[in-house]
Amino acid sequence: MIKDSLNKIKDKAMEEIKNVSNFDLLEKIQKKYLGRKEGELTKILKNLKNLSLEEKKIIGKLANEVKLRIESEAKKKIQELKIKAEALEENFDITLPGEKIEIGHLHPLTQFTRKITDVFVSMGFEIVDGPEAETEEYNFDLLNIPKEHPSRDLWDTFYIKSGNSPESPELDLGSGDSEQNSKNKLLLRTHTSPVQLRAMEKRKPPVRLIMPGRVFRHEATDAGHETTFHQLEGLVIGENIKMTDLIGTLQYFVKTIFGESAKIRVRPNFFPFTEPSIEVDMTCLICCGKGCGFCGGDGWIETLGAGMVHPAVLKNMKIDPNKYSGFAFGMGVDRLMMLYYGVNDIRLSYSGDLRFIKQF
Ligand code: PHE
Repeated sequence: MIKDSLNKIKDKAMEEIKNVSNFDLLEKIQKKYLGRKEGELTKILKNLKNLSLEEKKIIGKLANEVKLRIESEAKKKIQELKIKAEALEENFDITLPGEKIEIGHLHPLTQFTRKITDVFVSMGFEIVDGPEAETEEYNFDLLNIPKEHPSRDLWDTFYIKSGNSPESPELDLGSGDSEQNSKNKLLLRTHTSPVQLRAMEKRKPPVRLIMPGRVFRHEATDAGHETTFHQLEGLVIGENIKMTDLIGTLQYFVKTIFGESAKIRVRPNFFPFTEPSIEVDMTCLICCGKGCGFCGGDGWIETLGAGMVHPAVLKNMKIDPNKYSGFAFGMGVDRLMMLYYGVNDIRLSYSGDLRFIKQF
């Protein structure tokens, strides 16, 4: 009886090992028959106690033989599987399609900023950078925007609570701590104009500078407005720099980026740091100047503020206004980018939504 079942186990195990095609299954089969607790062979040997000594001897010997047979068969199989695996590796089919790895690219805003800075670099402009957490002094005072002056209301400002480090700012949505000196009162810069002053601390005229960067305003958001956006500031100072130089530079810029059909229109405006000041519009390229929803029906898009640098600001830059003059401009990069690529909501740009980013 026991002899029969031992032989049956042997045959079954041999058959299974012969047909197995991978290491994992082979291991399972070994465990099933030879496992110390639940193995089929082990179970039989546990029942030997009822047999006579003579029978025990015979069966014990046979069981041992079965065990050795199964083990040696499994060893043989391991060798066989190893050889197969190696052969498979050598014959690896290099024409099989690989796993596709997605490669990222620059954000459309970065791509566009590079495009427009290139135009100015080709005209001899130098690119300058400045801090995003700025002092009240640079963002306002030195730009001829005095503390209690109503013109400060043009910029809805995020102040940073005093005692905070610029690395971990906590915002103060009021008008800031009035006790504090404007030299160490921090805010998130509302425009790139403070970089003009920082740049001129290390330079002397003549200069041609562009200052691209992120700015912040405490505003309600909609398709055309965000609390953070980008500007490109320009500053040219030299002897005999005139308003016509400013207009010519901007006309060249707009035509280079948007093509010959793009025109600019100049209107008088007010900025505390330029005199005279202008607002520059460009042809709406959605309707080619005919008037549409995007431009509010008049065929022009407001693009930038500009003007001749105010003598008080030149003085703050330690420049003699009797010898030098200059022009400055600050353009909204996001709006131009939207016009360039045909994007109709500024919020998409900051959403981190890959469906938007992947289109560029
Ligand atoms: N700083 C102005 C703004 O953000 C733009 C500007 C820059 C106007 C330079 C004139 C000269 O509104």
